[in-house]
Amino acid sequence: MVQTKRMYRCQSCEETYVSWSGLCSACGEWDTIKECVVSRNKFGTRSERVASELSTEVLQIAEIQSPNVKRLETGISELDNVLGGGLVKGSVVLIGGDPGIGKSTLMMQLSMAIAEEEHCVIYATSEESAYQSKMRAVRLNSDVEKACSKLYIIADTNLDNIEQAVETHEPSMLIIDSIQMLHQSSVEKPIGSTSQIQQCCMSLIHLARERGICVCIVGHMTKEGLVAGPRMLEHMVDVVLSFEGDRHDALRGLRSIKNRFGTTLEIGLFEMTAKGLHNVDDVASFLLQEEHEGLGSIVCPVMHGSRCLLVEVQALTAGTLFGQARRRATGFDSSRLTRLTAVLEQHAGLEFVDQDVYANIVGGLQIREPATDLAICCAIICARLNMSLPRSVAMYGEIGLDGRVRNVPHREQRVKQIVKRGFSQNIVPITRNEGGDKNLTYVASVGDLVTFIQKNGISIPSNNRLSDGEKSGFNGSV
Ligand SMILES: Nc1ncnc2c1ncn2[C@@H]1O[C@H](COP(=O)(O)OP(=O)(O)OP(=O)(O)O)[C@@H](O)[C@H]1O
Ligand SMILES: [Mg+2]
Repeated sequence: MVQTKRMYRCQSCEETYVSWSGLCSACGEWDTIKECVVSRNKFGTRSERVASELSTEVLQIAEIQSPNVKRLETGISELDNVLGGGLVKGSVVLIGGDPGIGKSTLMMQLSMAIAEEEHCVIYATSEESAYQSKMRAVRLNSDVEKACSKLYIIADTNLDNIEQAVETHEPSMLIIDSIQMLHQSSVEKPIGSTSQIQQCCMSLIHLARERGICVCIVGHMTKEGLVAGPRMLEHMVDVVLSFEGDRHDALRGLRSIKNRFGTTLEIGLFEMTAKGLHNVDDVASFLLQEEHEGLGSIVCPVMHGSRCLLVEVQALTAGTLFGQARRRATGFDSSRLTRLTAVLEQHAGLEFVDQDVYANIVGGLQIREPATDLAICCAIICARLNMSLPRSVAMYGEIGLDGRVRNVPHREQRVKQIVKRGFSQNIVPITRNEGGDKNLTYVASVGDLVTFIQKNGISIPSNNRLSDGEKSGFNGSV
């Protein structure tokens, strides 16, 4: 039996209330509290819907039209890969990213690629003038006027005018750049408010579904890395993409956070140039730094969906000057660095109590795979012992709280990739069934790793260290 309950929830911060109120006391937004119906079936599964959106029509599965997913290939292979084979007609994609990361560039390139295939595209810019958008388009393709005759630009912040343009031109794709700067006359709230953003997003979803057009919405990011505005936005749309990377570096990664029509494991890699974003051809080794003589670097094979990327980990330890020792990670979660440092302290006999530890994954990408644990630990140990390993070393493996090195999936693919790229000393976790490959070095614990470093490492002479090298350890890259 299905049990239902009614309650009120703020669509911005998700705070719940027993009665309706115009103002959400938790986030301070007006008109965001909606009545919701919470139902729980006999298996205990909970679902929640806004009461006004509940449909009364119940259809037998056979009565519903068979799915025939039509995709619009974008022609940008890295983007198609992340989307799962192209944009699905009638779907809404939200793309977020830091200021200046290249959101408008990607959207303009996408519009141009679709328009070149003789599809009509409307690019609605609410942040720039039509002239500025044309300037970008010409920079990306000097032949844009001829090649993209079906590309229309509308510089307006009023969604009603954009809807009118869609009515007139009947495009296959609509780009909104950005949702935070859009407003609808029927909502008496300022631009950028939760109600405006939510209402505009809702209208765009209706537009996409009704007309079967692809709508791509650009959204700003908060400093916590979430799309600015109501959290509901991410629930409402079909696909959420995050454009990331270091603004000062040319590499950009496109990651799917949510995808109703494909996997969220794939990552698209681009290089930002004066002519726009280019697909990275040699994805596997793009993140590797140039070889540097003498001091080598250890590389870690990381899986991203179906692809194996080689990333480079660096670490630095330095004597703590004031109070508590710091742990700072770039490119992965800082709490993981704290945990790994504690494991090394407990199980590898190294002391970090008066040492600040910094670790960095080169290239600006966020790596979440635990397979990098072993390389991170190796980098920290080398930094602490003032040692460096030869350039030929690569490694992967997860490290548990007990200091043991655990196996991770896709061993074959990882080993294949590092061997292919010329790494000859490859350290992998030992497993029950394996251990006989003479070309691999097996480690079972962080203790084994320390032994390997002491046996194969090169001590870094003091003139290679930083000026306060007596107190700190620096090993270049590991
Ligand atoms: N002439 C150029 N040569 C090389 N790179 C350029 C050039 N012009 C712009 N860029 C790159 O494009 C980036 C800006 O791209 P874009 O305007 O698409 O970013 P955005 O994410 O839309 O920014 P905003 O958040 O301000 O809307 C710059 O940070 C720079 O990296
Ligand atoms: Mg922009």
